[in-house]
Amino acid sequence: MAPLIIVNFKTYKEATGENAVKLAKQCELAARKAKGKAKVAVAVQAADIFRVAAAVDTKVVAVFAQHIDANGQGKSTGFVTAESVAVAGASGTLLNHAEHKITDIAKRIETAKAAKLVTLACAANVAEAKAIASLTPFPDFIAVEPPELIGGKVSVSKAKPEVVSDSVAAVKSINGGIKVLCGAGVNSKEDVRKALELGTEGILVASSVVLAKNSESALLELISGV
Ligand code: G3P
Repeated sequence: MAPLIIVNFKTYKEATGENAVKLAKQCELAARKAKGKAKVAVAVQAADIFRVAAAVDTKVVAVFAQHIDANGQGKSTGFVTAESVAVAGASGTLLNHAEHKITDIAKRIETAKAAKLVTLACAANVAEAKAIASLTPFPDFIAVEPPELIGGKVSVSKAKPEVVSDSVAAVKSINGGIKVLCGAGVNSKEDVRKALELGTEGILVASSVVLAKNSESALLELISGV
């Protein structure tokens, strides 16, 4: 299967509202030019899911939520339900990002799966990756992202290759069906190539694409590392 590259829009101004639509379209252009070499997804803010999903071909660029709450539909207020992001056009969700930690990951995975969302849980280190891989239900993806490298210029695949390869080994030994990604500081095609060499099946990236002068070129540069 082609590696997965997820662009996390975070809450960057450059990736909010109409800027989210522009950026998602740039990611779509890059995905089209990549001709299936990599799968591309964008993880957008809840308020932008509907407009982004309506503006792009979600078969070319999948739209993910950045987070969901555990609440089901009904008598609760102000929560982001799995069903709401699914009907808005999301096909997956991130969970437990380093910038949005949660304690009930399994419950959220269950809720997401019931709404037919692909699930990606983030882990800060090998121990957390192992713990998440042992959950019932388990996520489709685990992304290992050392928090101290997030938003920096040095990629996890270069700065902490052992965290990546040890996470892959640990997760696969527990559950071979879970795919492992890595993220934090991914800036170049070499960073992506190295991540794949270490056994991952893709990467999670934010600043080097979202804040680039030309996000389409920045994403294409990353895809060229596949
Ligand atoms: O979710 C991806 C992220 O945390 C990595 O951010 O800016 O280091 O690519 P960045």
